[in-house]
Amino acid sequence: MSIFRLFTGAFLVSLVLFVALVPYQLVRARPARNANAVSYLQRNQKGKRVYTNDDLPPSDSPPEPPAAGDDASEPIAGPSGERVAPFVTTPMEVVDKMLEVAGGTPKDVVYDLGSGDGRIVLRAAEKYGARAVGVELDHGLAVESAERAKELKLDKLVTIIEGDLFKTDLQPATVVTVYLLLQANDRLRPVLEKELRPGTRVVAHDIRIPGWETAREEAVTIGTGTHYVYLYEIPGAFRKPAPR
Ligand SMILES: C[S@@+](CC[C@H](N)C(=O)[O-])C[C@H]1O[C@@H](n2cnc3c(N)ncnc32)[C@H](O)[C@@H]1O
Repeated sequence: MSIFRLFTGAFLVSLVLFVALVPYQLVRARPARNANAVSYLQRNQKGKRVYTNDDLPPSDSPPEPPAAGDDASEPIAGPSGERVAPFVTTPMEVVDKMLEVAGGTPKDVVYDLGSGDGRIVLRAAEKYGARAVGVELDHGLAVESAERAKELKLDKLVTIIEGDLFKTDLQPATVVTVYLLLQANDRLRPVLEKELRPGTRVVAHDIRIPGWETAREEAVTIGTGTHYVYLYEIPGAFRKPAPR
């Protein structure tokens, strides 16, 4: 009888924990959907000391990004890997906002990690004259975006790597864009902290980099939906400046 009670008690405690924790995890994983919350965050950040690129020491001369091969309509082959996000496109209004908050210039080297149909890298090259590298695991999407770069005569600026974003050399990047799941951003964070050079900007669509502090947040409303753009500066996003 007492063993039966013990089992029943343990079962009830597990059930209560499950019911309490699952909604909490779901809420935590959801991006902020409330414009008031975003403007509150922006106001709240005004008093804080955040690194700007002016504070940063000049970087060593950056390594060159990979150049497209002879046939630029073919993606460069990279290492295979695990798919960490489904293919969902960023609306072009949001792409433009992401590149605007990154402060895109022709000197930039923009990496889109999980580049889908290539829209972010193509736009960065077309609008800002930036060199841009898309990393995409899906063969069809990688081929489609490399072909599109050639069609638009942007293949001198745009390189598509068909491979795993976690195994790609990110050293040449001055801007990194991501639209991935929260778990993928979480896994990516230590890679970005290790590989990116000071002054690099990371821009995330809708899903934050957990544990990092934003330098800027923007809401983009399209119809009835609102998208969020999060700008992070390296290394200020994760390293506090030494007291002066
Ligand atoms: C949400 S979509 C974003 C597409 C594009 N960046 C955009 O914003 O429109 C995520 C993309 O990441 C790709 N992906 C998932 N796991 C990947 C991995 N390990 N390496 C490279 N790409 C990956 C998917 O195939 C998909 O195209």
